[in-house]
Order: sequence, then structure tokens, then C-alpha cells
Amino acid sequence: MHDFNYKKSELCAENVPVRKMVEKFGTPLYIYSYKTLVRHYYAFENAFNGYPHIICFALKANSNTAILKTLAKEGCGADVVSGGELYLAMKAGIPANKIVYAGVGKTGDEIRYALKSGILMFNIESTDELKAVNKIAGESGIKAPIAFRVNPNINASTHPYISTGLKKHKFGIPMERAIENYRLARKMSNINIIGIHCHIGSQITKISPFIDALKKVLLLSKKLKPYGINIKYLDIGGGLGITYRNEVSPHPADIAKEIIPLISNNNFTLILEPGRSIVGNAGILVTKVLYLKKSFKKEFVIVDAGMNDLIRPSLYEAYHHILPVKKNKRTEMHADIVGPICESGDFFARERKINAPAHGDLLAVMSAGAYGFSMSSNYNGRLRPAEILVKESEYSVIRERETYMDLFRGEKIPGFLR
Ligand code: LLP
Repeated sequence: MHDFNYKKSELCAENVPVRKMVEKFGTPLYIYSYKTLVRHYYAFENAFNGYPHIICFALKANSNTAILKTLAKEGCGADVVSGGELYLAMKAGIPANKIVYAGVGKTGDEIRYALKSGILMFNIESTDELKAVNKIAGESGIKAPIAFRVNPNINASTHPYISTGLKKHKFGIPMERAIENYRLARKMSNINIIGIHCHIGSQITKISPFIDALKKVLLLSKKLKPYGINIKYLDIGGGLGITYRNEVSPHPADIAKEIIPLISNNNFTLILEPGRSIVGNAGILVTKVLYLKKSFKKEFVIVDAGMNDLIRPSLYEAYHHILPVKKNKRTEMHADIVGPICESGDFFARERKINAPAHGDLLAVMSAGAYGFSMSSNYNGRLRPAEILVKESEYSVIRERETYMDLFRGEKIPGFLR
């Protein structure tokens, strides 16, 4: 569900016509809906209302400060994977004691920073990392609160690049090695074991993989008890899918209904790390048609956004609906909708049925709020787009469009070239 709807024949973000914002801020343009964001956050918050829990928004999906502030104000926590994300989360007002930190390659500096910040817990992904955290915690004089990210070997049946819970993946420690790692951690003087973490993949459209993973994690928590290891935080990661095309994902309430009975007899605090399901359908990328071109038998619609702005179609062959900002009754055609980047993989859609666009038409690439701007780059010397947040009839720039100056920010000319 989202709040980008046609009023008469004009696409609006909440109450504001998309065209109006494009006239002011140009294209390509990311536009987000405040209402969608908050509603999606509460879909989780309300679903798990009856059980102690923390919703930790996965910053990797979208780390714009205004988006984070929107969520922070409602009480949201954060799942971060770098010092940079930790900094952004705290800057947006997310309290450190609601921040969990995952990732297979945390550096010494990042570990130190997270310890000093007082995060809720490190989600440890290897024995080597555990040793590093213990050492740095000792040096810092702070006990490190940890969970192990365990890999439950569950097939999340999603795109191979975004599936993470199988044995062949680099994430977490194998379930079979979990107990020995917990026992090792228990012996370490600067480690405080408080949780178990698992995340099995992204864009998951069924409940069963979540339940299967949870059952494995619950079993582990039981097996740890005889060793005097009591788990307080059960972090079941993120990964709930959204509708890009016609997928139907379970509502958080459907998941809660199955999860809560399984844990109701325990005194856990449940942690969830949704990213896409909160912000994915809260954002669109608006682009302008530059040229139309027929090459042999193929029709191309060349737009002013590229794979540097939204890489999902190029990287995962991901489907995104593409809607005209102003509805029209032109004849239908099949075309590739492509960007200006010098790569054949620079496309938003292939052989897509659309009403023949004309020069200057505006198109909205839908469901672009998650892993859109956050995966953008300056490839081909392109300026990253502006971002706008709409709330009812109000709208505000939450990130300025980049300028040419931004393209060489931080670069230096060596003396021998002067
Ligand atoms: N927690 C952990 C440990 C994760 O690795 C991820 C995503 C999440 C939470 C959030 O998952 P979500 O609820 O957003 O599915 N760039 C890809 C998605 C990569 C996801 C990586 N990890 C895409 O555009 O589809």
C-alpha cells in the first residue's frame, strides 16, 4: 500500500501533484510519502504490540536523515552495518540503546565507536570477530553486549543475490557451530551475551521461512540454557517482501500471529529489522523522457534517470512498475525504458507495455524508496538526485540535488601535477 495515487489524471504524492514538485526541483527526483512511512512502521509496531519488542529499521534500505527522523519520532530503533550508518542513526535521534549492529567486516575503529556509543548489541558474524570485539572491549573498559548471527540454512526463495541464510552464504556462523561459539564467548571477560540474531534474506513473500528460522533459533536458545547462557533478545532480522509487480506478501500482523504463540512463554524481547517493507513503497523515482529511438525493431524510451540513481533493475533484473505522471490515452507500445549511462545493463524495464511516451513526459518508477537512493552513485559523472518528503499538502527538500562541485569533493591534485 502506498500514497501515490491519481487525482483526475495526475499522479500525486499524498495531496501534492508530482508535476508541481518536478517543476520546482527538476528530474530525476526521489519523492517519499510521510504517511506511507509512518503507516508501515505502525504495521509492525501494532502487530507486535502484545509482546516486548523493538523495531530496528534497517538503514541500508534508506538512510536519509529526514526519513530516519520520521521513524525515530515514532520510537523506532535501527539496524546498522557500518560506523557511517551508526552515526546517521544517532544523528537522526535514534537512541543508541535501540541500535543493533550487524555485518561481516566490522573494523576496529567501528567496533570502538559502537562500544563507546552504547549500542544495544553487536550481531557477531564470526569467531574472529568475537575475539576482536572482546579485545577492543577490554581496551575500552566497556563490556560488549553481543548476539551471534546464526545461519539457519533456510532457503528464503528469493533472488539469489539477496538470499543470505544458506550454508553457502558468507553471513553469520553455521548453526552447528553456534553452541561452541557461545561457550567461547561466555568465557571471555569483556563479552556480555544477550541475544541471538538471524536474518535469512530479503523480499521474502511467505511466512514459513520466518517461522522455520525462528524455530531453529528457539531450539538454540534452549540448548544454551544448560551452559548458563540465557538469551534475552531474539533478533529475527528483516526481509519481509513488498509488492513490486503482483507479489502478495504477508502483513506483519500475519507474521506476528504465528510468531507470538511460539515465544509467549519466554521472557524474550523480540527484535525485527525491517527495511524494504517500511520504506520501499513509500518512495518513487520520477524521471523525464529525453528521447525516443527505434533501433532495428526495438523501441527505446531514453529517460534522464539511470542505473546510478536506481540500480535494482540492472543488478537483480528487478521489476518496478513505471507509471505516467499524467495519464494519457496514447496507443500502447512495447519498449525498453533505458537511462543515459554507457552500459547495456542501464535499463529500468525491458519490453514493457506502455502508452507511447512523448518527449518531456514524466514517468514514475514506483516502489523505489528502498535500496534506491541508498545504492546510488556518481557513475558517469552523474549528479545524484534531490529527495523530497511529502506530508499531506506540504513538501520539503530532504536532500539537495548534487552539483558539479560534489563530483570532486575530497579529491586532491598531487604536487607533481601542479
Ligand atoms: N537485517 C540484515 C542483517 C540485513 O542484511 C538486511 C538486508 C535487513 C535487515 C533488511 O532487509 P529488508 O527488510 O530490507 O529485506 N539491495 C537489495 C536488498 C539487500 C538486502 C540486504 N540485507 C535489493 O535492492 O533488493
